[in-house]
Amino acid sequence: MNITLRQLKVFERVARRLSFTRAAEELYLTQPAVSMQIKQFEEAVGIPLFERLGKKIYLTRAGEEIYRLSRAISQQLDDAEQTVEELKGTEGGRLVVAVASTVHYFAIRLLAAFCARYPKVKLHFKVTNRKGLLQILDDNEADVVLMGQPPDDADLVAEPFMENPLVIIAPPNHPLAGVQGIRLEELRHETFLMRELGSGTRSAVEHFFADKCIPITVSMEMNTNGAIKQGVEVGLGLAIVSIHTVEQELEDGRVVILDVASFPIMRQWYLVHRAGKRLSAAGHAFEEVVRHEARCFVKSTSPPFQQVPEPLGEPAE
Ligand code: PGA
Repeated sequence: MNITLRQLKVFERVARRLSFTRAAEELYLTQPAVSMQIKQFEEAVGIPLFERLGKKIYLTRAGEEIYRLSRAISQQLDDAEQTVEELKGTEGGRLVVAVASTVHYFAIRLLAAFCARYPKVKLHFKVTNRKGLLQILDDNEADVVLMGQPPDDADLVAEPFMENPLVIIAPPNHPLAGVQGIRLEELRHETFLMRELGSGTRSAVEHFFADKCIPITVSMEMNTNGAIKQGVEVGLGLAIVSIHTVEQELEDGRVVILDVASFPIMRQWYLVHRAGKRLSAAGHAFEEVVRHEARCFVKSTSPPFQQVPEPLGEPAE
């Protein structure tokens, strides 16, 4: 069989997604390029690997068998790459770090600290929301991930390294700005700017209010923290964001944190990698830098407000 590793990689991605379009997007190829690789691969194997029924594609029996083998080969190639990275130690090699959109506000400082200490390691940095990170982990496309709490059922090793308080922000001229002990019920009259589906911040906020049985009104959905902060500044609504995303705006007085009962919602940031993944020396070194630097961040980002006790009559958390 005269096949190439590239064909195998393209086949594996199409087989995993059962979609030429998604495979093309994820591999940064055009769809005709993916179709051509699959055609050549099928010719080399000498048997059809996919069948098309209506708009969907399925693996044939042979396709399933080749998919199983291709996954084993990919795993071995990953192991080989990992071994090479280990041998390079921190005197070279490459490290892929993926972080949540919300994390990138402080992750850049972590990267700077790492690069200052280990200048020879080539860093690749990916930023996406929680859903994207789970996909990256599933596809084994990052060495280390910084994110909110990963799902329990995923095959991951997760270590909390820093608190992530979610706070309610408002423009300084908002009627509730400066008011102490705002009751949660009062939020019923407000409108909120909300992150997109797939955001960890959004799902934490939705769980919080569902638990409290308090419906909130979402006036607009936005897929970046930057847009949300600006929206709050110009009075489009309130928002619930990680305190790490608004350090500068708070300092400049462009937004304020509202003193609402049961807030902040206390979450954690986690260092995550796949269980069974052999972290390279550079991976271990990066995790160590994160643990160390996070201790300094905690001092500098403790919430600049007093949390008030929950008023009587409200359900305890
Ligand atoms: P995100 O942050 O909202 O940017 O996806 C991740 C998280 O809080 O879990």
